[in-house]
Amino acid sequence: MKGADGLEGAVETRVVKVDPGRIDEALMEFPVSCIRRSEVVAFPTETVYGLGANALDTNAVKKIFLTKRRPQDNPLIVHISDLAMLHLLVQEVPPKAQALMSKFWPGPLTLLFAKSALVPDSVVCGQPTVAVRMPSHPIALKLISLSQLPIAAPSANLSGRPSPTTAQHVIADLTGRCPCIIDGGPAQGGVESTVVDITKGLILRPGIITLEQLQEVYPDIQNYSKSSHGDLSDKPPTPGLKYRHYAPVADVVVIEFNNLEKMKESIIELWNQNNDKKFGLIHTHPLLKLPQKLTNHPNFIKIDLVNPNSSDPDLKEVAKGIFGALRDLDFLGVNVIVMEGVTEQQEGLAIMNRIRKAAKHII
Ligand code: TXA
Ligand code: MG
Repeated sequence: MKGADGLEGAVETRVVKVDPGRIDEALMEFPVSCIRRSEVVAFPTETVYGLGANALDTNAVKKIFLTKRRPQDNPLIVHISDLAMLHLLVQEVPPKAQALMSKFWPGPLTLLFAKSALVPDSVVCGQPTVAVRMPSHPIALKLISLSQLPIAAPSANLSGRPSPTTAQHVIADLTGRCPCIIDGGPAQGGVESTVVDITKGLILRPGIITLEQLQEVYPDIQNYSKSSHGDLSDKPPTPGLKYRHYAPVADVVVIEFNNLEKMKESIIELWNQNNDKKFGLIHTHPLLKLPQKLTNHPNFIKIDLVNPNSSDPDLKEVAKGIFGALRDLDFLGVNVIVMEGVTEQQEGLAIMNRIRKAAKHII
């Protein structure tokens, strides 16, 4: 059956399971042929799953926007497998970018460069810059190198849904819309790459490479929202910042971390206001213990993103599980999702950035 955009169910989706530890190149033939034929392919990266197509072909790039119903003014990241591809895409590689590439590539860092004439406008949506990253995931690298093409890829969710961290999430969103989904197991990072404009010394989107890691190379680098660059609603430095994103169907409430006792009181208060509804809790603080009459209640569903061997939130664990938790709670028909907020240090900056975007209320 075709949906409103004429795509739903119009495409036969083939899921190809590939072991990232031992890539069988014969299994990569179909995904590579899709990329070569200007079709879209969903594939795992070390952050989240991406929805890729030939970055040098406008026709292919348009299919990405159509497939995930992406707003037309939100530019794409181009993924490369070697530096020769970078030189095709950009006018120059400034020394400041070179230093970050040497330290963090391949890996979850996206850098902006002045684009070359080869990059179609459809990729950059009218910006003079192109965002590029070299992923470290072996399947992503193999797909790009065997295709011999740079691959433009946003996250492989339908726009407005949480980014997919497993092939099952992609299958839920894109079956019937995308000809090929590579299942390479769960993505390890869980939130997206860090987007940096090094000419301005700014992080445009916090991600898996942390502010603290970047400050080891450039001590002055700042996160956009903490800089003196004003209100995000004026003119965001990256179009992606103005979209709400990551929104599950349920209402999301984030409790900013202050102290455990206050957080516990807030959870109980929210529960008392909502216990006629299905209530979901994303639990991140191992030392926060709730009364049994609450945790045993049939309307109360708790997803643990904790490391039992640690007394503090395990930020890597929370990053890895946060989007999946939002999806699972939605799937279970929860009406209210409450998230125990974490510190904004290390991966916490990206986690809190994403969860605030999903949230209806922040307390
Ligand atoms: O980890 C990731 O980055 C994943 C995987 C698949 O690589 N990709 C991803 O893509 O998260 P997407 O499209 O969901 O987010 C790309 C972000 C958006 O916020 C977009 O506005 C910004 O990068 N961006 C892309 N090109 C840009 C440009 N030329 N100038 C400013 N921002 C740009
Ligand atoms: Mg995205």
